[in-house]
Amino acid sequence: MSNYRIRTFEEYEAAHKKSVENPEAFWGEIAEHFSWHKKWDKVLDWNFDEPKIEWFKNAELNITENCLDRHLKERGNKLALIWESNDPKEKFVRLTYRELHTQVCKMANVLRSNGIKKGDRVCIYLPMIPELAISVLACARIGAIHSVIFAGFSANAIADRVNDAQAKMVITSDGLNRGAKQIPTKRVVDEALEKCTSVETVLVAERLGWAPNMVEGRDKWLGEEMDKAHKDCVPEIMNAEDPLFILYTSGSTGKPKGVVHTCGGYMVYADYSFRNVFQYEESDVYWCTADVGWITGHTYIVYGPLLAGATTLMFEGVPSYPDNGRFWQVVDKHSVNIFYTAPTAIRALMAGDEDDVLSYSLDSLKTLGSVGEPINEEAWHWYNSMVGKEQCPIVDTWWQTETGGIMISPLAGITKTKPSFATLPLPGIQPVLLDAEGNEIKENEQEGLLCIKHPWPGILRTTWGDHERCKNTYFSAFKGMYFTGDGAKRDSEGNYRIIGRVDDVINVSGHRFGTAEIENAINTYKGVTESAVVGFPHDIKGQGIYAYVIYSGDNTDPKAIRDGIVQKIVENIGKIAKPEVIQLVPGLPKTRSGKIMRRILRKIAEGDISSLGDTSTLLDPEVVDLIIEEAPHVKQKS
Ligand code: WTA
Repeated sequence: MSNYRIRTFEEYEAAHKKSVENPEAFWGEIAEHFSWHKKWDKVLDWNFDEPKIEWFKNAELNITENCLDRHLKERGNKLALIWESNDPKEKFVRLTYRELHTQVCKMANVLRSNGIKKGDRVCIYLPMIPELAISVLACARIGAIHSVIFAGFSANAIADRVNDAQAKMVITSDGLNRGAKQIPTKRVVDEALEKCTSVETVLVAERLGWAPNMVEGRDKWLGEEMDKAHKDCVPEIMNAEDPLFILYTSGSTGKPKGVVHTCGGYMVYADYSFRNVFQYEESDVYWCTADVGWITGHTYIVYGPLLAGATTLMFEGVPSYPDNGRFWQVVDKHSVNIFYTAPTAIRALMAGDEDDVLSYSLDSLKTLGSVGEPINEEAWHWYNSMVGKEQCPIVDTWWQTETGGIMISPLAGITKTKPSFATLPLPGIQPVLLDAEGNEIKENEQEGLLCIKHPWPGILRTTWGDHERCKNTYFSAFKGMYFTGDGAKRDSEGNYRIIGRVDDVINVSGHRFGTAEIENAINTYKGVTESAVVGFPHDIKGQGIYAYVIYSGDNTDPKAIRDGIVQKIVENIGKIAKPEVIQLVPGLPKTRSGKIMRRILRKIAEGDISSLGDTSTLLDPEVVDLIIEEAPHVKQKS
């Protein structure tokens, strides 16, 4: 069936056309390529009002049989997973499909013998070690809903997620390596669990050989449990619409929400988008540098590649350790053919020494990818020439936690690339641009709010425990549309260029934070009366966090106040959310109705005060001048 793997631009056009004219026939044919225990009664049932979206209605499957079991006959001895350590001197791990299958089955049995059943929630707080991928798949094997928490989040952030999901189990490690640092993950989990009552068992993987505190009756070493476990595990048969996982992500309101993806649709979309965007060939080694703690790692380290029978590389370390050549050293070492990373990493390496790249051959590379934030032209060209030697198409992939998989992107070598453009929608994806009133902008060379007007199999189904929130966030802004929260431009050929978020979400190094989430953390510092957080352009991180804080407490040392505020952010969210700038201000610019004028604050954070607009309607116009006087970026520019 030609539209499963597109080979030419004409096939792309035909597939897209068919997917719009008859989405059910289109996705039904693609879904035939998977193993199902029971086929669907109907490919799609949906309305965006409730919203209610059901793909492959009443079908039954287990996604791990599709990731593992069905490959055993033909690819049993093929490498499924290559794991590369943080330390270049430590031996890498290689697991064939057969070995990975055995590990997953054993771990699934460990979960079952510890009382985990279909529908139970399991939080996974692990570094990038093989146990992370194995845990995810083990949950899926027995129908437990995994919720992976990025291992940079703080104890409070873990507690919020564990409590929201009412998780029965947490899987963690003694500690983790991140570059030259070691971090005691188990200790962070222990602190988190002081605030949680739902967790019955904590499984601890050994990574550093440490001896963490083990709570009697609750904590168990994963290795010991694995030794006892049987290697056969009958998979749980799941309904296509049963939840597969929850992944918490930030939005415009204070509390991160649990985006829910389901088994059937997510599987079909992860596989289809992986094969087509990266044009994976059977012998390719594929490496995505994301962390499994984010959606990119879920879909394009674990599920997508394994569904496609690919060899996926998982890297524990960071691009700068032991030096800035690490990515390229790993590419050469494992002969990586497809390399998928984030613009922030490219910009950081671009700022370093050219020899860090030029000392490696990078001959094996044939496709490059980018994800998570807009890639600026300069970074695109550097990536293209320094890494790709102008021989590798760059797929700039736009998508979101909520979309499950890549939505707008070139198909490597099949459709055209254009620097800083994510280009064209994948088959099955119907993007539209709307003006602020919700009218569709049909012409090209226009800019608008990016929405999607028809469901695709990977779309989120709900937000955990709060369907209303899902509806309000994504389906209420414009009737009958999924609203992405992004603004985009369309060029004369229909290529999309993503401009960035139009809501109160800041994207720092490809990580999403809600401004309200950071403000809430800041406001817990004693003496803070009010705060307002905005993003500003940052050369490496894409965006940096800028916090304006009104402090009226007793402390008179501004540095101590700022340190105290940072500490609150680290405690409540994690180090990854540290602001670049904290400016103590006497007041905030507000409208007469009390709304903070963030537009003005964004301009000041950028250091651009030439176009602040009319400030005379503000409640207290003088406050703007007082803020400007002390604003570091404004001072730098003037
Ligand atoms: C942004 C990451 C421009 C966008 C997969 C989106 C991008 C948010 C791109 C989702 C891209 C992601 N070009 N912007 N290629 N990819 N974004 O949920 O603002 O962590 O809404 O998913 O990242 O971030 P999330």
